[in-house]
Amino acid sequence: MVDLHHHLIFGVDDGSPDLETSVAMVQMAAEDGVTHLVATPHANEQFAYDRAAHAQRLQQIRNALPSAIATQIELGLGSDFHLDYDNTVDIGNINKQFAINDGPYLLIELSDTGIPARIDEVLYKMRVVGLVPILTHPERNSTLQRSRGRLREWMKADMLVQVTANSLTGHFGKLAERVAWELMEKQWVHFVSSDAHDLSRRTPRLSAAYEVVRKRMGEDTAERLFLTNPLAVFEGRAMPSQPDPTGVFEEEKKGWLDSLIEHFR
Ligand SMILES: [Fe+2]
Repeated sequence: MVDLHHHLIFGVDDGSPDLETSVAMVQMAAEDGVTHLVATPHANEQFAYDRAAHAQRLQQIRNALPSAIATQIELGLGSDFHLDYDNTVDIGNINKQFAINDGPYLLIELSDTGIPARIDEVLYKMRVVGLVPILTHPERNSTLQRSRGRLREWMKADMLVQVTANSLTGHFGKLAERVAWELMEKQWVHFVSSDAHDLSRRTPRLSAAYEVVRKRMGEDTAERLFLTNPLAVFEGRAMPSQPDPTGVFEEEKKGWLDSLIEHFR
C-alpha cells in the first residue's frame, strides 16, 4: 500500500515528537504492508514549512531505520498545505516546493470547521501554475458534511479527493464515517491515506481500512485507492483512468429545481 499523508517528520508539527517515534512509525507502517510513504508536515500559520530542513530530518529518519525495514519502504516528501490566509495570499507564486516528491500533486487541507472565502480562486491559480490539488479528508469538514455542492463543483474542475483510513473504520465518529462511505460509493474518492500523527490514536496503519473497503467494494477498488492511484502520485505520473463519479456531471441535464435540491442535499 502507498500512504500519501503522514505526519512522520519529528518535531515540526503536531505529529511525531522525536526521531525514535518517527522510526517506530515507519516500522509500524512497513509491518502493516505499506511500501511507500509520503511525509507531509503541516504548512500553515502555526507550523512553518521549511522544505530543506524537512528533507534533512527525513534523511535522518532513513538513516536510523533498521536495514530490514529500510529495504521494505520508500519515504517521500510533501506537505499538508492548509488553505488559510497566509498560504493562499501569494498562491500565484507557489512553486512545487510544497508538492509531493517535487511532482505536480499537492495535498490541500481545509480547517475542519469551514471553507475559505477565496478557495475557488486559489484552486484555479493552483491549476494555472501546474499543481494538481488533492483535497484531504472532506468527510471531516463540517461544511462539506452538510452539503456536497462545493465538493461537486471542485470535482468538475478535476480536484482529487483523499479520505482518511480511520474515517472509514469509524474512529472519527459516525458522521465522518457516513460521509466517507457516501463519497466512496459515489466514486468521488481517489486515495485512502492514514494522516498518521502518532503510534496509538492516529496510527500509520492502513490494513484495517483496506480490508473493509475490499469487503464492501471489492478488491479492484481497494487496490485502486490504496495502491495504484497513490503510487502514480508518489512517482509523479498521470493518474490512471477512474470510474465516472456519480452525480457530478449528470447534474447539467436536470432542471434547475432538481439541481437546487441536490445542492443542499
Ligand atoms: Fe494531515
